[in-house]
Amino acid sequence: MKSSLFLAALPLATAFECSKYTFQAILPTQASVAFARTVAANATFTVPAGDIAYPTSPVLLRSVCAVQINVTSSPTSAYSFGLFLPDDWNNRFLAVGNGGFAGGINWLDLAAGVGYGFASMSTDTGHSSNSSDGSWALNKEKLTDWGYRAMHGSVVLAKEVVQAYYGSKSKYSYYSGCSTGGRQGLKEVEMFPEDFDGVLAGSAAWWTSHLQTWTVKVALYNLPTTSAHHIPPALFPIVGAEVLRQCDAQDGLIDTIVSDPRGCEFIPEELLCKSQVANQTEAGCLTGPQIDTLYKIFNDYVETNQTFVFPRLEPGSEAQWEVLIGGNQPNGLGIDYVRYFLLNQPDWNFYDFDYGIVQEADKVQPGNASAIDFDISPFHARGGKLLQYHGFADGLIPTGSSEYFYRQVMRTLLPKGVELDSWYRFFLVPGMQHCQGTPSNVNAPWYFAGGNQAGALGLRPGCVSGVPGFRDPEHDILLALMRWTEEGQAPEYIIATKWHNDTLQDKVFRQRPLCPHPQRAQYTGQGDPNDASDWRCSSRGSLSAQLVG
Ligand SMILES: *[C@@H]1O[C@H](CO)[C@@H](O)[C@H](O)[C@H]1NC(C)=O
Ligand SMILES: *[C@@H]1O[C@H](CO)[C@@H](O)[C@H](O)[C@H]1NC(C)=O
Ligand SMILES: *[C@@H]1O[C@H](CO)[C@@H](O)[C@H](O)[C@H]1NC(C)=O
Ligand SMILES: *[C@@H]1O[C@H](CO)[C@@H](O)[C@H](O)[C@H]1NC(C)=O
Ligand SMILES: *[C@@H]1O[C@H](CO)[C@@H](O)[C@H](O)[C@H]1NC(C)=O
Ligand SMILES: *[C@@H]1O[C@H](CO)[C@@H](O)[C@H](O)[C@H]1NC(C)=O
Ligand SMILES: *[C@@H]1O[C@H](CO)[C@@H](O)[C@H](O)[C@H]1NC(C)=O
Repeated sequence: MKSSLFLAALPLATAFECSKYTFQAILPTQASVAFARTVAANATFTVPAGDIAYPTSPVLLRSVCAVQINVTSSPTSAYSFGLFLPDDWNNRFLAVGNGGFAGGINWLDLAAGVGYGFASMSTDTGHSSNSSDGSWALNKEKLTDWGYRAMHGSVVLAKEVVQAYYGSKSKYSYYSGCSTGGRQGLKEVEMFPEDFDGVLAGSAAWWTSHLQTWTVKVALYNLPTTSAHHIPPALFPIVGAEVLRQCDAQDGLIDTIVSDPRGCEFIPEELLCKSQVANQTEAGCLTGPQIDTLYKIFNDYVETNQTFVFPRLEPGSEAQWEVLIGGNQPNGLGIDYVRYFLLNQPDWNFYDFDYGIVQEADKVQPGNASAIDFDISPFHARGGKLLQYHGFADGLIPTGSSEYFYRQVMRTLLPKGVELDSWYRFFLVPGMQHCQGTPSNVNAPWYFAGGNQAGALGLRPGCVSGVPGFRDPEHDILLALMRWTEEGQAPEYIIATKWHNDTLQDKVFRQRPLCPHPQRAQYTGQGDPNDASDWRCSSRGSLSAQLVG
């Protein structure tokens, strides 16, 4: 039963019980209900056993009907999706995304959606695995599910379930996801422009055929671990500190944040050991061959004939390097892609990597996962709004890849007479790591309620939704997307927040505007630089500036 508030608002709606049987009755034959049960406000939703990708049980801020539905997608594959249907519904639908190769329902982001009142949906993408395990992809049907089929199919069916449950259609449909979640959002925009009115795509893993192969390439720069050019992870913080030393002031303000890594001419030789040292970590220096490795990491992957393959890792991303370049072999996100998605050779030796692998990936496009159809004008034509963002300290997915996507869309659409600013904006986030967080010596404002962020804030998982203390479209990028979609007011900036302690146990440390690319946030030179109102968004070479606050 839904709340009296809801029934009072829609007296004609038929009460739709939160039970397995009522849902089963409205589903097509290929779909079955795994469970349907009510969860009270402030109670913990216990994640079903087996969701190894998203095992954390969230506390739900509103009472909901929680449902899981399984859908057969081919003779050898099936996907599931979870739905939280709040009693006090905001009349809107929200789909959330996944991360890496993770197969599982993202219950934490669903819980964040419930806090706003969304009927919220997440799909497991058709398999069960952790984020770096791609061995399931030998089954090409599962790969298609992961590529796009599970998300689209779940969205279509979930919308029907929502309509049946509440007795009316959602007024608006939204999407929010980061990393693979960002890719899923862009893929939807490209293939199924009718699915969403507004899409929020963070730190998107959109160029699967190049990102996953570059993941092998970038690891090989630093392998084998026995070689002279290997930089042991213990030295990564030394590189990070030197980047900060050279590049912090360059952006005009000494604040521990490298706001403009592109503008900084980083000189790696400053790190060179002056003599034979017994302990480099202690001495804080690198050898010549290790400096060579730094050059490779800090430069784009370019093949013969100046063929651009993938952008570099930005100076400032060192605190996350351990994940991709700190091990004795490339991350599963690279190796497993080549082994299971592409070649179907579980024993492929990663030292055999060459550009031919990238070319093969471009040809095969496993699972049609890459979101490389830059003509997204159909999404524009149906009135869709797209917000994209990427952290400048991302050590997992190069920041420049999101920028590349934005510019490819621009190149495709401007000549067709379609400008972007009125429906598609892109924000760079200085000092933010992959989707969330900031290095402890940087403390950049990174929280704005993007995908995967709520679960990284607060003490009790699921208890954070939106931006605590700042529940408005200036500080909350999902609310900004809603205002743009529903009221036509475009976000001129988003104010990101950093609490002293991300557990929300103390005060706000800093707030700062993020500006739509290619504008940049500039300190006015007066007032407290930790206060967003002392900043403005300004264009390079342009006198027009938008004051914040
Ligand atoms: C639904 O899928 C999940 C995950 O694959 C599985 O554990 C569960 O048994 C399935 N339930 C039904 C009713 O098919
Ligand atoms: C849930 O907890 C919050 C915070 O403690 C409280 O304000 C709210 O009233 C609670 N809601 C219900 C329905 O108990
Ligand atoms: C992910 O799963 C694979 C396969 O079960 C396992 O080998 C690997 O250690 C796991 N990785 C992490 C980070 O849990
Ligand atoms: C090198 O110095 C670091 C930092 O002082 C220390 O943690 C490490 O154990 C030393 N390594 C060796 C091999 O002595
Ligand atoms: C580079 O360009 C030359 C001349 O067009 C061509 O013969 C060669 O195959 C190209 N190499 C690659 C790797 O594309
Ligand atoms: C693959 O995806 C693109 C969009 O990214 C789409 O245009 C194309 O139709 C898809 N191809 C197939 C075979 O599904
Ligand atoms: C942050 O909050 C947690 C939980 O209250 C506390 O244990 C920790 O000491 C706090 N840290 C700082 C730096 O305030």
